[in-house]
Amino acid sequence: MQKSKIRTLAGLPKLSDLNISSKNNAIIFYDQKLLKNLFVKTWLQSFSFKIALNAGESLKTLNSYSAILKKMSALPIQKNTTFVSIGGGSVGDFVGFIASTYKRGQRLIHIPSTWLSAVDSAHGGKTGLNFLDTKNQIGTFYPAEIIILSKKLLFSQPVDRIYDAFGEVFKIGLINQPAILQQPKISADYLWKNLSVAIGGKYKIVDLDPYEKTGLRQVLNLGHTMGHVFEMTHKVSHGQAVLLGLMFSARYSFQLGYLKKAEFIKICQILFSVPLKLKYNKVLKIPDQKIHKLLLQDKKKSAQNQVNFIFIHKIGNVFIQPVLISDLMSEVQRQRRQL
Ligand SMILES: NC(=O)c1ccc[n+]([C@@H]2O[C@H](COP(=O)([O-])OP(=O)(O)OC[C@H]3O[C@@H](n4cnc5c(N)ncnc54)[C@H](O)[C@@H]3O)[C@@H](O)[C@H]2O)c1
Ligand SMILES: [Zn+2]
Repeated sequence: MQKSKIRTLAGLPKLSDLNISSKNNAIIFYDQKLLKNLFVKTWLQSFSFKIALNAGESLKTLNSYSAILKKMSALPIQKNTTFVSIGGGSVGDFVGFIASTYKRGQRLIHIPSTWLSAVDSAHGGKTGLNFLDTKNQIGTFYPAEIIILSKKLLFSQPVDRIYDAFGEVFKIGLINQPAILQQPKISADYLWKNLSVAIGGKYKIVDLDPYEKTGLRQVLNLGHTMGHVFEMTHKVSHGQAVLLGLMFSARYSFQLGYLKKAEFIKICQILFSVPLKLKYNKVLKIPDQKIHKLLLQDKKKSAQNQVNFIFIHKIGNVFIQPVLISDLMSEVQRQRRQL
């Protein structure tokens, strides 16, 4: 897999920083919410061709894919045009998918605008569209050539976006970057200081199994089996759903004796340090049939009736184990009774 070049900038890049020769040689896809920031609005003027996007899960659909392709057909796009995305994870996943499929592939640059996308989704090359009720059911591997981490852009976010990032940040801490979990502070400064550690943790895994062939990359799904269920049923943000999914995984790992009590308590203290709108005791109040249906659609399914679940052994040490969906459902019921 092509290695992305990661550049950290105080502000937003000039076209020359992106190796774009003229304003007609690129198309910018932007989250239209970013127009609220005057500096982004001004910067967008450096591009001749612009496509506004409505961020969120409804963007990652075949309908909006075809709607945006139609809009693009009105533009004089040449074969060697660079596609630039500026936005959060939904925009990055969507534009990555367009760039990888439009005329069999265009040069791609990501400028992540949420902490979650800066720390996680812009890296590793996964693009994705949701299909029916399943997240990222359609997708490609297509890493951006350049990823720009802009301090000004990232610090312009509201506090909820900081909370969102900690799902993925704590995930990577649990997988292979324990230093991040030593004394985490739920702040933008902490995220900025620890960006390279978190990103480095992800690349350590991606480099071992870039196309998810050997299964090693699957550990990055820690917290996501139940996280996706919570995201689809409670309509919470991806980041917060992952945090809740990590709470489920920690409890399950402790219940099966994989995680010692002292370590379990430490992990809970860390996970519960993020203020969430949806509390864990509410999260399992969903009908069993609904959970079961979503688990059956899960793309991490290893066989008809099992999923590859990621368990925590201790901070910095996780492992994959197939679990029968019926056992996972029993664990859901057990945790529901306990809450
Ligand atoms: N490809 C991957 O490897 C990968 C990894 C993790 C998550 N994801 C995907 O990423 C998505 C979640 O990412 P996200 O939370 O960034 O999603 P998002 O793009 O939906 O952004 C969340 C919200 O923040 C707003 N926003 C974006 N930038 C902002 C800014 N600078 N200031 C204020 N508001 C801003 C958006 O308009 C949106 O309302 C999910 O679709 C998830 O599946 C992909
Ligand atoms: Zn995720």
